[in-house]
Amino acid sequence: MPRKIAAGNWKMNGTASDLGEILALVTDHPDPNVDVVICPPATLVSSLAQMDGPVQTGGQDCHAAVSGAHTGDISATMLAAAGASHVIVGHSERRTDHGETDALIASKSKAAYDAGLVAIICIGETLEEREAGTTLDVLDVQLDGSIPDTAHAAYTVIAYEPVWAIGTGKVPTTDQIAEVHAHIRAKLAGRFADGAEFSLLYGGSVKGSNAAEIFEVPHVDGALVGGASLKAADFSPIVSALE
Ligand code: G3P
Repeated sequence: MPRKIAAGNWKMNGTASDLGEILALVTDHPDPNVDVVICPPATLVSSLAQMDGPVQTGGQDCHAAVSGAHTGDISATMLAAAGASHVIVGHSERRTDHGETDALIASKSKAAYDAGLVAIICIGETLEEREAGTTLDVLDVQLDGSIPDTAHAAYTVIAYEPVWAIGTGKVPTTDQIAEVHAHIRAKLAGRFADGAEFSLLYGGSVKGSNAAEIFEVPHVDGALVGGASLKAADFSPIVSALE
């Protein structure tokens, strides 16, 4: 069975004073069947990883290289040394803001594997692509290009995040999520021997009020949450809905 995962992506938010609230939250959710992963800004990775509690720590991006002359970047090896267990790669904000390609994202995923990190690989269509009816084609290209051939379920999580649902309050219908997640599952099963075991997350305006409904959709094994992961009062109901 795929692991259930409630992951929080803090994006460029949070300072040390915010860590206590989140750890207070996750100590209320000791269910060993649900992985709770918080991906804070890089400045907080080490601090979060050193705190007691069942929360796991993730980076929000990594460089494809182990080390070198790459000002401002962080390698997967560095994240692992700081205590991270996961790293997000290919978030749409990285694809848009930094021009990241599928090939680069595959390289970053390989770097994550080499460092012993779980790669949370993000894919998703724009509103224009959905309205043009090309969603599954777009996702196929991203899946083919972003996931390395060496991927396996223990170290790979796929997050489906429609770009138009991120931070907008707009959420696909459960039928739309079901169609995409079934498609991703079939595609992974056709390519990887353990394709049925990859955890598939939905992301995009997940809230306590819609989480339970989303988690009932077949092949949704959890969520990648942005805004609602910043406050314990908002994230706790989402974790509860997965338990
Ligand atoms: O990575 C999570 C994110 O893109 C979703 O953000 O704020 O819509 O939950 P949000």
